[in-house]
Amino acid sequence: MRMVLLTLATLAAFAWAADGVLTRMTRAWFVRDVELRSELAVNGARQALVAHWQAKDTAGLVSVLEEITRDERIQGAAACADDGTTLASTSAYPSEFPCRLIAARLRAERAGASWSTTADLSSGPVHVNVTRLSDGSRALGTVVVVHDLSFAQRRADKTRTLLLAAFGILGGTFTLVTVLGARISWLSWTRELRRILRGHEHKPEYQPLMRDVRDLVQRLTAETDLEHGGGAWTPQRLKETLARNLHGERVVIVANREPYIHEHTDGGIIVRHPASGLVTALEPVMRACSGVWVAHGSGSADRETADAQGRVKVPPGEESYVVRRVWLSAEEGSGYYYGFSNEGLWPLCHLAHSRPLFRREDWDHYRAVNQRFADAVCEEVDADDPIILVQDYHFALAPKLIRERLPRATILTFWHIPWPGAERFGICPFREEIVEGLLGSSIVGFHTQQHCNNFLEAVDTYIESRIDRENNAVVQGGRSTLVRPYPISVEWPIHWLREVPPVPACRAQLRKELGLAPDALLGVGVDRLDYTKGIEERLLAVERLLEQEPALRGKFTFVQLSAPSRTRIRSYRDLASQVEAEAARINDRFAQGTWQPIRLMHTHHEPPEVFRALRAADVCYVSSLHDGMNLVAKEFVAARDDEQGVLVLSHFTGASRDLTEALIVNPYDLDEAAAALAAALRMPKDEQRERMRAMRALVSEFNVYRWAGRMLVDAARLRRKERFNGRLRSTQAGERTRAS
Ligand code: G6P
Repeated sequence: MRMVLLTLATLAAFAWAADGVLTRMTRAWFVRDVELRSELAVNGARQALVAHWQAKDTAGLVSVLEEITRDERIQGAAACADDGTTLASTSAYPSEFPCRLIAARLRAERAGASWSTTADLSSGPVHVNVTRLSDGSRALGTVVVVHDLSFAQRRADKTRTLLLAAFGILGGTFTLVTVLGARISWLSWTRELRRILRGHEHKPEYQPLMRDVRDLVQRLTAETDLEHGGGAWTPQRLKETLARNLHGERVVIVANREPYIHEHTDGGIIVRHPASGLVTALEPVMRACSGVWVAHGSGSADRETADAQGRVKVPPGEESYVVRRVWLSAEEGSGYYYGFSNEGLWPLCHLAHSRPLFRREDWDHYRAVNQRFADAVCEEVDADDPIILVQDYHFALAPKLIRERLPRATILTFWHIPWPGAERFGICPFREEIVEGLLGSSIVGFHTQQHCNNFLEAVDTYIESRIDRENNAVVQGGRSTLVRPYPISVEWPIHWLREVPPVPACRAQLRKELGLAPDALLGVGVDRLDYTKGIEERLLAVERLLEQEPALRGKFTFVQLSAPSRTRIRSYRDLASQVEAEAARINDRFAQGTWQPIRLMHTHHEPPEVFRALRAADVCYVSSLHDGMNLVAKEFVAARDDEQGVLVLSHFTGASRDLTEALIVNPYDLDEAAAALAAALRMPKDEQRERMRAMRALVSEFNVYRWAGRMLVDAARLRRKERFNGRLRSTQAGERTRAS
């Protein structure tokens, strides 16, 4: 196409230049022609002219001049004396060339011989020929012949039209031939390529080409899907990506925590939405994709709200996907969930100074429960090559167990928490089995590249395998597991916000409920009550702030919303009492009348209440000591459609890599954290807007639909590759059989 356009542009430029040259040339030819005719006409009548001139016979001169103008192109003629007198002229002789003008020019130029010129009159272009006349011994005067040149213009126009038509035909023919030629060669090339790609061609020399072409096509498709597939990532776009890349196959998620928990209360059965970053992220994805979410049925009314197989359609009232509940005995729950997952792996993976506990019986339960979930997943799939999303540290063994039953499955495992360095990971007595279990996945995803690197280091240190550094993959027995960073995010816009009043109303409501002045400054923290969240450090930073900024006493209040979590574990129970003791101490120290600097709300809050607090805040402090991502930070940004409010964010969260416009702090450094809180409370509105706008732009663009889309597109690519490799292997096996 580009070549055709280039050629057409060249032809047009050439036609334009040729037109100019040709117009000038043809005009010169015509002028010369007219000049000769004028000279010929005067020379033919010379004798008669001289005779009438000498006889001063004006009537005779006129009749000779009339004779000369019988040539239809000669407009008029005149006989001029050298003093500028008109001796005779024809009736149509143009008044623009009076004899006095001719004589003046003859004098000025001292022209002895004849001369000629062209001029544009209102009647059209003319050629003026001036011929000197003498009787042989003395000059008599001049004969002026005026030729009409408009015929020359007409001919030049006709020539130009013909020329342009010729170039047009030439250009058209060229374009047609080029396009047809290109089309024919493209068709035959793609037909050939398709034949090769379908595997009808096994010439060894084609193999590298086939691999490159296929990789290229897949990469381009994936990139187009991700970058240009239609603007913002929405549930609809995710759905389309799934349909286009994975042919609408439904997704099966396995995650310990279920998105909807049915609980008995005094008022009957209610649905609770758990405080879990994993659920926050994945629930909107499931609503978009549909399929099955396999989870632990942990609610007190879960059994009676599910069918005999433990299935229940959700979300209530919308019912776009299914939760398949797996029932665990008290021992299983305590060994697998509380024991190995949350007393072993959780502290192992978080640098928060809690010692991991690895009990053999917990590990046995963990293995058994992973097997039970793997079995449940296999019951829910509807093909032998399903797409399965395994979520988090509760299921490190499930990928391998699923792979054993469904070798052709595409298994995407996402580890929502940090992965420690190899040395730290090495303290786990079951480290090899954990890594082997995860390597049953097609892709293992983490929030950050650092966690990917740590995982690869663990593989390298503890497992027999080859690490393909170029592709960030682990190769074992001919099968690859890709290791990739996929920073998780929140839905955009967050559907809960539809139920939350606008920012000014939230500000007013919460201040009123807390008994604060309408203009009181408010800080907010939202977490599960977990020692990795740095809640004690957060309260200590507030204390340091009030020490350093006495003007804030009585004016600034910090509200901490903490959802009770894993309360059967001693370290969590201890944390709750430590946080309460710390808050009480700080409140005692600074309380003024009814004002207290810290307000603890240790209870479960449903999402609309959480978002109301985030909207009411002047500052949100996320002080995790170690956190895979931390979605509260992103939820705060998503909630602030007024583009106000400041985020103070721990450097030790994955979110600090994305939300660089937050005030990033080391939560252990109380002076730094207090200074950041003070800066946040003083920050001018314009700066708040600038920072918030930048963060909102990032979170809206890199939302959870994009996160899921990227993983699914990568999975689709891998799947095509594996299908092709499978076909290639079976073809090669067939050829070997034929050969023997
Ligand atoms: C973290 C984990 C999730 C978990 C959540 C809540 O975000 O990565 O897997 O669901 O904490 O913890 P819980 O034990 O209540 O599910």
